[in-house]
Parts: sequence; C-alpha cells; structure tokens
Amino acid sequence: MKERKEENLKKTGTDDPFYNQNGKEKKKKKKTRKDRLKTTPPKNQKKQVVKTHDMNEDKMKWVSFQLAPFHQSAETEIFFIVEIAHGVKSQAENNEPTPYPKAIVLWILAHIYWPTRSSGFRTRQSRAKMRSIPEMALGSTGKAIPLVGMGTAVYPFAPSETMIDSILTAIELGYRHFDSAALYQSEKPLGEAIKKAVELGLIKSRDELFITSKLWCSDAHHDRVLPALQNTLKNLQLDYLDLYLIHWPVSLKPGKYELPVNKDDLLPIDLGSVWKAMEDCQKLGLTKAIGVSNFSCKKLEELLQTASILPAVNQVEMNPLWQQKKLREFCAEKGIHITAYSPLGAKGTLWGTDRVMECEVLKEIARETGKSIAQVCLRWVYEEGVSLLVKSFNKERMKQNLEIFDWELSAQDLEKIIQIPQFKGFPGVEFVCQTGPYKSLVDLWDGEI
Ligand code: A2P
Repeated sequence: MKERKEENLKKTGTDDPFYNQNGKEKKKKKKTRKDRLKTTPPKNQKKQVVKTHDMNEDKMKWVSFQLAPFHQSAETEIFFIVEIAHGVKSQAENNEPTPYPKAIVLWILAHIYWPTRSSGFRTRQSRAKMRSIPEMALGSTGKAIPLVGMGTAVYPFAPSETMIDSILTAIELGYRHFDSAALYQSEKPLGEAIKKAVELGLIKSRDELFITSKLWCSDAHHDRVLPALQNTLKNLQLDYLDLYLIHWPVSLKPGKYELPVNKDDLLPIDLGSVWKAMEDCQKLGLTKAIGVSNFSCKKLEELLQTASILPAVNQVEMNPLWQQKKLREFCAEKGIHITAYSPLGAKGTLWGTDRVMECEVLKEIARETGKSIAQVCLRWVYEEGVSLLVKSFNKERMKQNLEIFDWELSAQDLEKIIQIPQFKGFPGVEFVCQTGPYKSLVDLWDGEI
C-alpha cells in the first residue's frame, strides 16, 4: 500500500488517487467504442473454455470457499478478487464471449447465499428440525404464552457462558419462553443470548420471545417494585417483559438477593400496595402482563379483593408428585393461567427432589410407552392444560423435552398418575420462622399442603 502511494506520488506529484497535484479531480478514462468491441466478441466466434488457473489451485480455492462462511469475508473477498481478475484477464486474452460466468455465480453464492447461510446457518439447519410449540392466550394481554418454556435457574445461582450457549441452542430448537428472576442471576446471560440470537438471525426480534422475570422478596415493597423491574430490564437489555411475577408472597428487608434467606429479614408482604406497583409497571408498558408465583388459593383470593388488573399467571411447583388439583380448579374458575415449575422435580437444586425422576409408577409408564420418564412427566403436565418450564442445558435433553406433542398418555396411564401419593418437593421452609409472617408451612400455604 505504502509503495503504491509512493509510486503514485512520483508519477503525479500527489499520493491522492483521486486528485492530481493541482488539486483537480482526476478524470476517469472513458471507454471508447473500440475498447468496448475488444470485450464483445463477434457473434459467430466459437466459444472457448477458459481455464483461469490450474486444478490444484482451483481445488484449494474451492476448499477455502467452502470454509469461507466460517472464516468470514476477508478470505472470500480475496478469493473473488483473484477469481474475477483471472476472468477479466482470460476474457481479454481469449475474446471470451460471456464475462467470467463462474466468478459471477460464485460471487452471488458468496454474497447472497453464503452470508445468509453463515449468519443464519444455525437457523436454516434448525428451522427444519425446529419444533413449533403450542401456545395459549393469556387473559386480555394479547400475547400468547408458549406451553413449554425453558427455566434458567441453576443452583448455586451464577451467570455463565454455558447458560448463554444453552439458551441459543434452545432458541434454535424452538423454545420461545424463557423464565428468569432477579434471584437467579440469569437475567444478564439471558439478555446476552437474546441479543446474540437476533444478531445471528435465529429470531428477527425479541418480540418473537416470551420473557418472564420475577420480583425478589427484598424488592417486594411498594416503592421498590418499579426500580426493581427497571433493573431487570437493564440486565436483560430489553424495553419490556412479557410477564413480571411476584416471586413469593413474602417480603424481606431490602438489599439481598439470596436463597436460603436470612430468616431475621422476613417481613409480611403488603400485598395490596405491592400489587398496585405491579399494575403501574404494566400500565407503563414495562411488562405486558403481571402475575404471581407460589400463591395459594387463599392468597390469590386476598389479592383479587383489591386488584384492578387480575394476575395473568400463578407460577407454581407442579408435576405428577405435586398435582395442584385444588389450585388448578380455583385458577381455572378465576381465569388465572397456571405455569408449572419443577415439572421434573428440579433434581439437584435447593428446591428440588429426585423423587419425581425416581418414581416407580412413572418408570413403569415410561417403559410401556417407550418414552423417557421426563417425557411422561412433561406430557402429563401438558395434557393438564397448563404451561410448563423445564430446565436443561443439555441439547439432547432439550430436544427430548420438546418431543411431547405428537403422542398421548392412555386413560390407564392417567389413572395411575392420579393415584401417585402426593409430595411437595419445595415446601418453602426457608420462609417459615417463629419471628416471621409465617409460623408454619400450613400458614405459608394456607393449609394447601
Ligand atoms: P440437565 O440440565 O443436566 O439436563 P426441572 O425442569 O424440574 O427444574 O428439572 C431440571 C433437572 O432435570 C435438571 O437437573 C436437568 O438436568 C434435568 N433434566 C432436564 N431434562 C431432562 C431429561 N429429559 N431427562 C433427564 N433429566 C433431565
């Protein structure tokens, strides 16, 4: 580059390629009719095969071309400059009638087909395999909730690159609902993954997703709700949530985001004023819908007394070992949608149990149907007409967890599941203490345990 500049300087007295030494614009040499004729051979001339370069070089370039989408454009561009230069040269030498056709076809491939393929590589491949997940209208919010979504809570809570990659994989596979919470530390990685998914062309915009997050107990105070949601949106790099939930019907002294909680920090929740602040968030357009999590029928009843916007969702533990029959009937009557968390029992977490995946009845149904225990659990939850959030960061299991829509549990299977002795995996003893608002689990769940 430097040498070319110097050469130009010598010849013209200026190193500017467009202006001469008098500061006047250099004129482009116009093509004369004679020049044009040089590149347009007589009609009757026999076509010649133009061999632009030898086979080995050709092969190498073809390989590099195949790899170009992965190396990105510098290599592709160099290849095409060389290719087109060869084309021009041999065309001039041989009076070739068609101007370097191979180069043009390859240029189109490189600039139109391959870029779509490289940025949308994952999309194009996966769209074919991508599952379409059934959705259900959510009250009057205008946005439907996908019936299978992905949980993002890993215990102990920590953001990670694995989480970002898993969410991207989930989007490729067809997941559209992602559940987060201020507590989980998953908002930032989820936000990163959403940004990347748009950049990669996996989704056109964030609007294609359904994003849920939750107000942690230490922010469950009237004047802390809006700042907490604003912080959540900042973490997610989003303008709005699809659903914002009160995480637990309890407040904590402000400041900490941890589980287990410090029991000395437990405070009764002022449900009316916290809900009013949630309603304001929806009115401001910061969330499409608001709801609650871990609420009993009694607590919902209390909320409904003063609410001007009804909770769209109650997200609760639900699986074949904790079937939530009473709560589901109550919510169906009130028009509150249920989302099931821990549909597989959340094995390995503070709030989980391995009892679900170890349940003999479920194992037997899995054997008979040729499905996995996880699929039997998820299919059962799905057949009960609620949405569910399943957490897996393993691609095969993520896929498997979506393969539940094209088969059914038999009446006998359903009967066997109904008979499973009930056991709540996460009773929430963390929120119970003699000095706090709930003195026992019966208080916390209003006897619904
Ligand atoms: P992993 O992330 O390694 O796949 P829940 O959805 O009830 O919260 O349960 C989450 C737990 O269940 C995680 O430990 C997850 O592990 C595991 N899991 C998710 N899907 C499956 C599956 N299809 N088969 C077995 N385990 C699963």
